[in-house]
Amino acid sequence: HLPASGVYNSILWAVVSYVLLLWLVRVTFGMPDPAKRDQLRRDEASQQTGGRITLTVAEQKLDSHLRKLKLQEMSAAQFPPALHFFKAKRLIEKSPVYKILQKMPKGAALHIHSTSMVSVEWLVKNVTYRPHCYICFTWDNSVRFLFSDRQPFPRWDCFYWQLLETLRARLGDPTGFDYSLMQHLTLFTESPESEYPTQDIVWEKFEKAFIVAAGLISHAPVLKDYVYKGLQELYYDNIMYLELRCGLSRTYELDGTIHDKVLTLKIFHEVTQKFVQDYPDFLGARIIISAHRALGVSEVKAAVKEAIQLQKDFPDVVAGFDIVGREDDGKTLWFFREALSLPAQLGSMLPFFFHAGETDDEGSDVDQNILDALLFNTSRIGHGYALAHHPLAKELSRKGNIAVELCPISNQVLKLVSDLRNHPAVVLMSEGHPLVISSDDPSLFGTSGLSYDFYQAFVGIGGLKANLGTLKELASNSIRYSSLPANLKNKLYGMWLKKWDLFVAKNS
Ligand SMILES: *[C@@H]1O[C@H](CO)[C@@H](O)[C@H](O)[C@H]1NC(C)=O
Ligand SMILES: *[C@@H]1O[C@H](CO)[C@@H](O)[C@H](O)[C@H]1NC(C)=O
Ligand SMILES: [Zn+2]
Repeated sequence: HLPASGVYNSILWAVVSYVLLLWLVRVTFGMPDPAKRDQLRRDEASQQTGGRITLTVAEQKLDSHLRKLKLQEMSAAQFPPALHFFKAKRLIEKSPVYKILQKMPKGAALHIHSTSMVSVEWLVKNVTYRPHCYICFTWDNSVRFLFSDRQPFPRWDCFYWQLLETLRARLGDPTGFDYSLMQHLTLFTESPESEYPTQDIVWEKFEKAFIVAAGLISHAPVLKDYVYKGLQELYYDNIMYLELRCGLSRTYELDGTIHDKVLTLKIFHEVTQKFVQDYPDFLGARIIISAHRALGVSEVKAAVKEAIQLQKDFPDVVAGFDIVGREDDGKTLWFFREALSLPAQLGSMLPFFFHAGETDDEGSDVDQNILDALLFNTSRIGHGYALAHHPLAKELSRKGNIAVELCPISNQVLKLVSDLRNHPAVVLMSEGHPLVISSDDPSLFGTSGLSYDFYQAFVGIGGLKANLGTLKELASNSIRYSSLPANLKNKLYGMWLKKWDLFVAKNS
């Protein structure tokens, strides 16, 4: 009857309340303070690249827009940074994030090589169509080009030269032929995995492409147009200044005259000045003279001495010196120590901008290059792919403000990493290591400017953590870590900031 059921109800309620209380105690007991958790998350986020930048209201608006777009891309069926760039390229070009990055003022390009700064379409469709262009097919399925006002003599690598104009007329439809010429000048292909199964194979094609391009680019009149065109490609990608790694090869004329290296430097300088006149919101360009690591010690010694002299004669043009070529099967920096000590011995100030640590081979002699680059007082580190695994070198680089030139697409195409979310720069970026973004060899990878590499760094390497502050710091880093003297750095920074604010206003 009724009173009894009242008792049961009370007991039932007591039991239920007790169980609820127990559960509450269990879930909150020992639980970290949510406020502390938020604080830690903020502290950690503040350490990343751009983590200390306070965004303006307009910047916050653009930032949350970018974040939304990035989230959409991350949840799509195919995530571009996880794919080989040659397959991801078309996806990236459709990406709304990429389109914003294209419009973003990116500051300076500090790591680009001179033989790969202009698209291969232009080299083939424009340069090889000029009169007096000869071609020769080599025994190893490659080609050579030469401009000449008469039939060129056979060479060791080229037995039979044909005038391209005549050859094209004989072939009829030149489209397929032109495409095959482009294939000699770039690594870009629809099937990268099967064409480049190993690092050795991709590097072999890479070095060959440089030799093919050289015959075109080192014709003096072509070099002038080439440099102008290269600067234009950067300018159209909203870049305002360039530091170009350049081997200073000699240029030639139609009649076979060969000029000295000084002329190459002069052409570069004059064309840059002309470009700045035509595009006053571009600041200029400088050269980092590079010697190939295939050379011997005495040849590199001569190259260093020459660079010291050229830097004295052209202080506005020559930024410094580097040693280039594949690290993994080439000589180490330490091998060249006698040559690299010359500037200090001669009391000259020739800054170094060494490629170092572009390797997966941990613990090898090559892996040691980063520490040696720092011992030789390098101003920046090209690639520094291995840096994250060298705590001491990393600390030296950070304390010395020696920025790493991060070239994500290059590292992927040259097979150091396949999914860019696993690039070691994830670590560097999350701890705010001094970094700049660059493109290394745009025409070989089928890119132009820096936007593709910025996309990979922002979406793939940075992930959701990377925000507009990250982009702002990366762009301003490119000015801060450039070789420009303080007054020009300030000028460039002022020019860039104006463009940045305009960009934010237009896109937020
Ligand atoms: C080739 O390039 C030069 C220099 O950029 C330009 O003046 C010329 O119009 C181009 N020619 C063709 C056929 O595209
Ligand atoms: C590097 O810089 C340090 C400190 O300025 C100097 O003592 C040393 O001689 C330099 N080394 C080289 C190889 O230039
Ligand atoms: Zn490089």
